Parts: sequence; C-alpha cells; structure tokens
Amino acid sequence: MKRVLITGASSGIGRALAVILSQKGYELFLLARREEKLQELKSELGNSNIHIIPCDLNGPNALNEIKTMTNCHIDILINNAGLALGRDKVQESQLDDWSQMIETNVTANFRMVHLVLPWMIQHGGGDIINLCSIAGHYAYQGGAVYCATKHAVKAFTRALREETAGQNIRVMQISPGMVHSDFSKVRFKGNDELADSVYLGMTPLTPEDVASMMLFMLERPRHVVIDEIITMPQDQGSPTTIMRRNV
Ligand SMILES: NC(=O)c1ccc[n+]([C@@H]2O[C@H](COP(=O)([O-])OP(=O)(O)OC[C@H]3O[C@@H](n4cnc5c(N)ncnc54)[C@H](OP(=O)(O)O)[C@@H]3O)[C@@H](O)[C@H]2O)c1
Repeated sequence: MKRVLITGASSGIGRALAVILSQKGYELFLLARREEKLQELKSELGNSNIHIIPCDLNGPNALNEIKTMTNCHIDILINNAGLALGRDKVQESQLDDWSQMIETNVTANFRMVHLVLPWMIQHGGGDIINLCSIAGHYAYQGGAVYCATKHAVKAFTRALREETAGQNIRVMQISPGMVHSDFSKVRFKGNDELADSVYLGMTPLTPEDVASMMLFMLERPRHVVIDEIITMPQDQGSPTTIMRRNV
C-alpha cells in the first residue's frame, strides 16, 4: 500500500485529496497545525491507515516529528501547505506576513522534498506534487510576496524534474486559480466579509475539483508525468480578470 504525506490536510485542497485517496486505499500521513481538524478528518474517514501529524511546518521540531511518524518512508509527497497573507502594496504590507509566507510556501516546501527524496531514490521511485498557483505564472498588485513564493516553487519544481529524470520519480506541479477554501479567510485574517467578496458573482473551483485533477496525475502509468496542470474557473481569465454577474 502506497504511503502518502499530505501537508496542509486540515482544510481545502489537502483535505479534499485526503478524502479521495483514503477511498482509494492509500495509507495517509496528514499534517497541519490544527490537531482538532485532523482528528475530525481521521474519524470521518474511519480508516485505520490514517495517521495524523499535528505540527507547524515552521516549528523547530517539525522535521523530527515527521521523521518519527513516517520513518522517512513516503511514496507520494503532496507538498500543499501554504498561504497568502494580506493584499497590501509592498510598502504598506507587514514584514511578519512576508516571513510567514516565505517560510511556509518556500522553505518548508523545499525542506519536505529534501526529507523524502533520499528514500525515494534509494527505493527506486516516488511521486511529488507541489502546489504552485497561477500566482507562480503571473504577478499582481498586492500580491508581490505571495507571487514571489509561488514563482520560487515553480523554479524549484523545474530544477527537481531535471535532477530526477530517469529515476522513476515523478515531479509534478498543479497551479490553480481561484479555489473556494479557507485561503481568502486566512489571507484577510478572519475578515469574512472581505473573504466572501473574493468569490462574489462568480463560480470558483472547489477543493474537490483540484483534488480530482491531482488524482488523475497520480493515476497515470509510471512512464507518464503530468509536468503541470494550470487550472482556473471558467469565470477567471487571469488573477485580475474575473467575470462577475449581478454585482
Ligand atoms: N485557494 C486558492 O485560491 C489557491 C489558488 C492557488 C494555489 N493555492 C495553494 O493551494 C494550497 C492549499 O491552499 P487551500 O486553498 O487549500 O487553503 P486552506 O484551506 O487555507 O489550506 C491551507 C492548509 O495549509 C496548512 N498550513 C498553513 N500553514 C501551515 C504551517 N505553518 N504548518 C502546517 N500546515 C500549515 C493549513 O492548516 P493549519 O492552519 O491547520 O495549519 C491548511 O491545512 C496552498 O499552497 C495555496 O497557496 C490556493
């Protein structure tokens, strides 16, 4: 049975993928900070092959906790945990927000690959899906640092593909546009009105939409790598072109 580590499994895309992969019989290691959300998911899935790793990826013990829980034996890494904080212009934004985005979206993401790759190479294979974003392809006002972090993920993924070619390690990336998850609630620091306004008059992707595409990537034959999926809602043309009705 394949062992899958999903970071950011307590909500949104990571949670939706956990549900799908659990139904497919994978053994899951689900990581996030909110232990109660992970417990809730584990009970909902009612499957003995679900292990939770409640920890902050940026905390000093994160790597040790993951090593202890998984013994570094991971066949599939879903490098999904990430966030945007704020929509302010560079000079008006908070440096602490920048640090948190860079540490989570970039440093922690890269570190996870560093952790799982030796086992994959030694045991002759593995899959890695990095959560990028259309923010890794475009840049927009009020998103300088978030966009920079996702551009970094894109560059890292590309270099990793070059390094692992021919080793039965499939390095893949998915880059969604607007997905209705907790993403905007986190970005606007709990301001529901602002968060809801993001999706006003348009139909965003659901976490399940994205998760089903990731399942498709994983279920291709071993010789097939879906290098990247870029996906947006039909109502979206780019980060800044959004068609809204009746608003
Ligand atoms: N939603 C979108 O429109 C969108 C578009 C493109 C790309 N993405 C990317 O998709 C990924 C998932 O986002 P989502 O939309 O599913 O948002 P979400 O619902 O807010 O989920 C984010 C997940 O990341 C976890 N996380 C954040 N910081 C963490 C930390 N320091 N340590 C451990 N876990 C942490 C959160 O769990 P805890 O809070 O419990 O720790 C949560 O499970 C992110 O990388 C995001 O950048 C999202």
